Amino acid sequence: MIALADVHKVYRAGRVAVPALAGVTLTVAPGEFVAVIGPSGCGKSTLLNLVAGLDRPTGGTIRVDGVDLTRAPEEVLTRLRRERVGIVFQFYNLLPHLTARENVALPLLLNGTPLSRIAARVEEELTGVELLARADHFPHELSGGEMQRVAIARALAPRPALLLADEPTGNLDSERGAAVLALLRRLNRARAFTVLMATHSVEAAAVADRVLRLRDGRLEA
Ligand SMILES: Nc1ncnc2c1ncn2[C@@H]1O[C@H](COP(=O)(O)OP(=O)(O)OP(=O)(O)O)[C@@H](O)[C@H]1O
Ligand SMILES: [Mg+2]
Repeated sequence: MIALADVHKVYRAGRVAVPALAGVTLTVAPGEFVAVIGPSGCGKSTLLNLVAGLDRPTGGTIRVDGVDLTRAPEEVLTRLRRERVGIVFQFYNLLPHLTARENVALPLLLNGTPLSRIAARVEEELTGVELLARADHFPHELSGGEMQRVAIARALAPRPALLLADEPTGNLDSERGAAVLALLRRLNRARAFTVLMATHSVEAAAVADRVLRLRDGRLEA
């Protein structure tokens, strides 16, 4: 599902070059749940952004779901993100003026899902994260754990082959965090999508099939 070969990413901030990734090679099989763990600044978000096709590497190659991200034109990357890749962030990134139901419906409206199918799909996704009862709540009327579950439902609504999660429990206490991780793990097993999750928490990484350790932009053996 994911294959990186000798991926480098150097950010330029003025005259300073910041090497965020320095030769990362990895593969993730379909359906696998892989955690990337490492300290702040080691390159986790950079890695996820590259795999999401939100940014391009300065060296190496990245293949996601059969697409060579380093060569694909922008519209192919946009289609990949709309149809094949879901993303969950630490701070949920829900739209504040839309209800939970409307937030989950949004990616389906954008990817051209027939209107007649959207309402049922949204209810199915909210049921999957056990939040149908909160469907008409706005984000500020939800707890942190609930907001993250809505964000997961939104990311999964288009039925992506790959879910990228950047510190999905970073803003939650350990109990709510554990509940979100258990939910992700259960959905990953039930639907067989692939998960690549960045975290600096050893407990969070423990739910994964495999843990990769990133330090200073390199994977540790
Ligand atoms: N847009 C940018 N411009 C310049 N430098 C950047 C940019 N984004 C990230 N960096 C630098 O690249 C390195 C890796 O950053 P990244 O955000 O990938 O780390 P991270 O592992 O996700 O950290 P955290 O756990 O704090 O989220 C850091 O040194 C950071 O300062
Ligand atoms: Mg980060």
